[in-house]
Amino acid sequence: MIEHATLINGRPTDCLSHRDRGLSYGDGVFETLAVIGGRIIDLDPHLSRLRSGLARLSIPAPNERSLRDEIMQLAAGEARAVLKLIVTRGEGGRGYLPPATVEPTRVLSLFQWPDHPERYHLEGIAASVCRLRLSGSPALAGIKHLNRLENVLASMELGDECQEGLLLDGEGSVIEGIASNVFLLTGNALTTPELSRAGVEGITRARILDVATGMGLQTSIKRVSMNDVERAETLFFSNSIIGIWPVRQLENRSYGLNDRVRRLLQAVTPGFNPAAN
Ligand SMILES: Cc1ncc(COP(=O)(O)O)c(C=O)c1O
Repeated sequence: MIEHATLINGRPTDCLSHRDRGLSYGDGVFETLAVIGGRIIDLDPHLSRLRSGLARLSIPAPNERSLRDEIMQLAAGEARAVLKLIVTRGEGGRGYLPPATVEPTRVLSLFQWPDHPERYHLEGIAASVCRLRLSGSPALAGIKHLNRLENVLASMELGDECQEGLLLDGEGSVIEGIASNVFLLTGNALTTPELSRAGVEGITRARILDVATGMGLQTSIKRVSMNDVERAETLFFSNSIIGIWPVRQLENRSYGLNDRVRRLLQAVTPGFNPAAN
């Protein structure tokens, strides 16, 4: 990994002003990208979600050319790494109301690829149902904003035996995983929760829905209950780094893995090479 793996507004530094609104209020958005062989997986959809998240928060988007150049500068030559991209509204004084003119801050940093055992892909993971309930927030639902305290608290609930936790909202609807989206597959029917009140509209979620349609699966985005989860034949989580993690155990319920899940997993998991296992 290159020596200085952080660029703030294009400069190699680790220093960010304490006046940055990303720090004061979580006033910004972020993306977590997989770098494989020096290439960014799904760069265009990530940049497009970043832009739409910024537009929802009325934060001006950074210059796309500079952003792409900086991303490529950090990713160049990396066999496998995680690149995190944060854009905040920039610096401001005290008080919630943003200054009349703002200069957004962009922070790009490179992290080591997490060394999750390959059996999480091949055999599935253990998951639990989090006690924490997500609050409904239609103004923020879907976007990858920086306010992630619910996810922080939920991840502190996870014991050592579980790799992911299932998050429900206050009405008992299943929303997503702590750091992932969730899917239920029964026969030919692939379902993922609708995210109009909470949750992040994952880039991998969109990819999976596309690939699944191409495979002839019937996809739906709708309200999902714990009853639906218990009745599902297979269950899996997705994000840009893990690709797909099938679930083998959720609380006391065991799930199987089938060829359809394996095909989806192969199609969307970055750098997945079953032949190497
Ligand atoms: C809360 C949450 N939901 C969903 C996702 C999946 O998003 P993506 O597929 O874009 O990585 C993530 C990814 O980090 C996440 O943190």
